[in-house]
Amino acid sequence: MADHQQGWQQKFAQEGIKLPVWAGMTLHDVRRCLIQNLGVMQRCTLEAEAKNPIIVALDGKSWEEILPTLDQLRTTGCILKVNDFAFANGFDNVLPDLSVYGRVMLDLKLHDIKNTIANTCKRIRVHKPWAVTVHASGSKAMMEEAVKTLEGTSTKVLAVTVLTSFDEATCEEVYVRKPWDQVMALARIAKEAGAHGLVCSPEEVKELKRIYPEMTFVVPGVRSPGAAKGDQKRVATPREARDDGADHLVMGRQVLGAEDPVKEVERVMTEELGIAA
Ligand code: C5P
Repeated sequence: MADHQQGWQQKFAQEGIKLPVWAGMTLHDVRRCLIQNLGVMQRCTLEAEAKNPIIVALDGKSWEEILPTLDQLRTTGCILKVNDFAFANGFDNVLPDLSVYGRVMLDLKLHDIKNTIANTCKRIRVHKPWAVTVHASGSKAMMEEAVKTLEGTSTKVLAVTVLTSFDEATCEEVYVRKPWDQVMALARIAKEAGAHGLVCSPEEVKELKRIYPEMTFVVPGVRSPGAAKGDQKRVATPREARDDGADHLVMGRQVLGAEDPVKEVERVMTEELGIAA
């Protein structure tokens, strides 16, 4: 028997821990038991979570496709951002499962009447994800409702300003304002509504951080030098976004499309951001 197995067996025996076993039990079930129910396995250290500014967007993947990557990302302390994954599987199902692997950003980009927002946030508060996103264009009253419904939990309400895939023409088409002016107007009402943070492009983060230094800034549209931009229009490198005040950097396709997503996260952290492993 390997040393580490012996260690586990001894610890389990000493502490009277019984791992429930059932037919069809998967590795994920085992991890979930050990982390959530038995508390004998960590998803990652708090220090690793505190120093990792990367949010990995788990876009367009099934649970089976993403699980091996999630397990490897578990020790890096990345935040896991879900959108289509949550819609497809239901957040009542995915939040407890994903929380085994990291903090979860529920990127639902809510935009609705107050009553509907309250109902959704009541469901979200049961699971306490790291954050949930709402569209700031949904109004100050709508954001206030989200903040009020999640009060007393650790879940942050992050207000999305203008999508980073919007260029000037698209922004004028939709909001009849240039991106900069629209972002500033939305940020102001988000702040007034009590939102804990803002999602904005790298182009606006410097000015917004200067005006609202106490807010948490999540910045998508982040690409390493030379990486494909995809549909993103207002982009910057991880270094630039960080230097300008981004607290968290959203990286989707660049990380998930890499041959080794964990190595890519570690490379960006050490080589580009100068964060020691
Ligand atoms: O693959 P990529 O790095 O472009 O992924 C960016 C992620 O950030 C996507 O999940 C997208 O929905 C999200 N996002 C964004 N712009 C915003 C808010 C969120 O691109 N303003």
